Amino acid sequence: MSTDGTASYRGITNLPPRVAAAVEQARALGFENSSRPAHGRLLATLAGGVGAGAIGETGTGCGVGLAWMTTAAAPGACLVSVEAHARRAEAAREVLADDPRVTILTGDWSELAGHGPFDLLVLDGGGKRGEPKADPEAWLRPGGVLVLDDFTPSTEWPRRYAGAVDKTRMHWLTHPSLLAAEIRTDPDAVCVLAVRR
Ligand SMILES: C[S@@+](CC[C@H](N)C(=O)[O-])C[C@H]1O[C@@H](n2cnc3c(N)ncnc32)[C@H](O)[C@@H]1O
Repeated sequence: MSTDGTASYRGITNLPPRVAAAVEQARALGFENSSRPAHGRLLATLAGGVGAGAIGETGTGCGVGLAWMTTAAAPGACLVSVEAHARRAEAAREVLADDPRVTILTGDWSELAGHGPFDLLVLDGGGKRGEPKADPEAWLRPGGVLVLDDFTPSTEWPRRYAGAVDKTRMHWLTHPSLLAAEIRTDPDAVCVLAVRR
């Protein structure tokens, strides 16, 4: 997620058609928080690595990240995303209607649990911050990959944000069921990737 995520596509041509269509939907709805291009490319790469596996996402938005994932997901992959905002969910469904691998639910993030466990899980709208958080043991298959974006660069340990320890980030980085790493996808953006042990 990024507050300038949708705007960051301005001037970019040669996007995959579904990604471009999802960005258009986000613009039309005035939805600013789409996944940025660099994060989208990372999601596509990870989706390709899953093969004919199960991919889950909380927080579909208008379907930008999901569209990126469909560009590289295998023919036998299954992608399920959930979005609380009905109009956004509908917009994403319009973009991805012709892809039988994709299911978009309207509802709370917790409704995704019934479609897991996942080989790749993107927590972008529920399950990442606050309580309860998604339990990796329940939501991920062993070896499954968890993606958490929207962090900022920090060189201190424990990680800090806005003058305080970033408890959310530390929860995931030190979770006993996960082996986690951070990668910088833009100069001002950090993504946590974690594998279920
Ligand atoms: C950062 S945006 C998602 C961006 C999207 N994944 C993309 O790639 O463009 C977060 C989304 O999560 C949704 N959301 C927030 N809380 C939620 C919840 N409890 N359950 C489902 N969706 C939620 C918001 O409505 C918003 O559309």
